[in-house]
Amino acid sequence: MQFEITPSRYGIRQGVQLPDPAILLHLKEEGVRKLISDHYDLLAKSEIKDLFPANPVALEKAKENSADFFIQVMGGPDYFNRHRGQPRLVQRHSRFRITAAAREVWLQCYQQLIPALDLPDHMKLSFWNYLNIFSNWMVNTPEKD
Ligand code: HEM
Repeated sequence: MQFEITPSRYGIRQGVQLPDPAILLHLKEEGVRKLISDHYDLLAKSEIKDLFPANPVALEKAKENSADFFIQVMGGPDYFNRHRGQPRLVQRHSRFRITAAAREVWLQCYQQLIPALDLPDHMKLSFWNYLNIFSNWMVNTPEKD
């Protein structure tokens, strides 16, 4: 099964379909937290590592906040809203310089993890489609800025 990265079109925000809530029922909160943790561990070794916290305590916190968000967006408890307030993710990402190339690396880290998830293919694809489209919204810096 192929998880393809749609090329970024700067400034275009395509409609996003939320991930299938059945993903959370399959993976459970624990499985989602592991996936997000593994993703951060790959990011920490990637060419965009400088964007992310290097300090282990801050990294753990970042994993927790992000997993809170993903659990919430998959129909679970609203942990992110309770701990961090309204997501407003575009705004939260605006203090980082995120280029289309950075988005690709970020998605490539998920490409390494999604195939191995214990999920039916259509659920893997549902999660991938969400990441692939919504990650474009976070691109806020033209490549040659
Ligand atoms: C589907 C797309 C994405 C989602 C759902 C997402 C979600 C999140 C969430 C929930 C946070 C925590 C915000 C907070 O607690 O204040 C976060 C932080 C962050 N994200 Fe994203 N993000 C996405 C795409 C990206 C991309 C493409 C990049 C860069 C290539 C990126 C870089 C960061 C950075 C640097 C932070 C701050 C450090 C941290 O707390 O992890 N994100 N993201």
